[in-house]
Amino acid sequence: MHILHVVGARPNFMKAAPVLHALGKRAGVQQTLVHTGQHYDANMSDVFFSQLEIPAPDVNLDVGSGSHARQTADIMSRFEPVVLERKPDVVLVYGDVNSTVAAALVCAKLRVRIGHVEAGLRSFDRNMPEEINRVVTDRLADFLFTPSEDGDKNLEHEGIPPGKIYRVGNVMIDSLVRLLPAAIQCSKNGFPDRYALVTLHRPSNVDDSQTLKSVLQSLLDINEDLDVIFPVHPRTRQRIAAFGLNVEKLHLLEPLPYIEFLALQRRAVVVITDSGGIQEETTYLGVPLCVIRTSETSLAARPSYGLSFSSTLGSWFQRPRL
Ligand code: UD1
Repeated sequence: MHILHVVGARPNFMKAAPVLHALGKRAGVQQTLVHTGQHYDANMSDVFFSQLEIPAPDVNLDVGSGSHARQTADIMSRFEPVVLERKPDVVLVYGDVNSTVAAALVCAKLRVRIGHVEAGLRSFDRNMPEEINRVVTDRLADFLFTPSEDGDKNLEHEGIPPGKIYRVGNVMIDSLVRLLPAAIQCSKNGFPDRYALVTLHRPSNVDDSQTLKSVLQSLLDINEDLDVIFPVHPRTRQRIAAFGLNVEKLHLLEPLPYIEFLALQRRAVVVITDSGGIQEETTYLGVPLCVIRTSETSLAARPSYGLSFSSTLGSWFQRPRL
């Protein structure tokens, strides 16, 4: 059985790692790893491969950045010859990024079987490019590996035959559990004892200057009472610079490696984010979470501490850790 995995962007790496490791232990399984190059900076990609002990990709498509159409099309045209040459029995795609849907489209047309890991999650918000990627990928997939019961239900409501749905649990949390001991050992690196940890990269939050300005102003207000630590996604850094916004008072950092970020999450008084994955990680860690989004990754599955973002939350952050 030849299984070809496709990864491309930061949130794919922690999901693929446990699957690669588990399949690596099985006799008779040949694995190929393709990196689309959607994320290409060392701190968005390489460092995750080393910490998660993922083997170097067999193929890198080096697509880089571009509009959604351009990025998706580039992945498709570069991935198709790889599938034709390598002839996998199954292609596994992960999550909801452009690399996921692009690879699924190629395989569907070549009639190569597709497994979607993290199938069935829905925000029911088509303004999010990731929602479109999820719906299309699930429509095309032959094996739908869901993390939770709500994923199964969403797929059944969309008419996916139950025989294609396999509930396998949350592979991203498998990576967290494996590397949590290393995160616990991580030194404090000079960070304060009490802080809010922030991540922000959704187009709906960072691409509009007024929205980004108002979110950053709220963070500056919170920073008066509680230090705000903010590893900045490249997209967000570009927008802050392009809009000429002043965030000098916040602790801005480069994107962090997986273990260091996990260490910061577990020690945070509160995490403020628009990331779907971090909603799941903070829920597992029992860290209070504030979601800067009008919809969650999956409405039913998150018994989280999610709250709508509001600048009135300052006093809430003073509460002791749950
Ligand atoms: C992508 C995913 C999103 C995921 C996020 C995690 C899609 C539609 N979106 O969003 O679901 O939560 O990754 O990070 O696939 N850039 C760099 N260096 C890099 C990567 C990106 O500088 O290594 C810059 C590029 O200039 C690019 C911008 O960041 O224009 C955005 O990157 P892109 O891959 O288009 O989407 P993300 O916002 O990262």
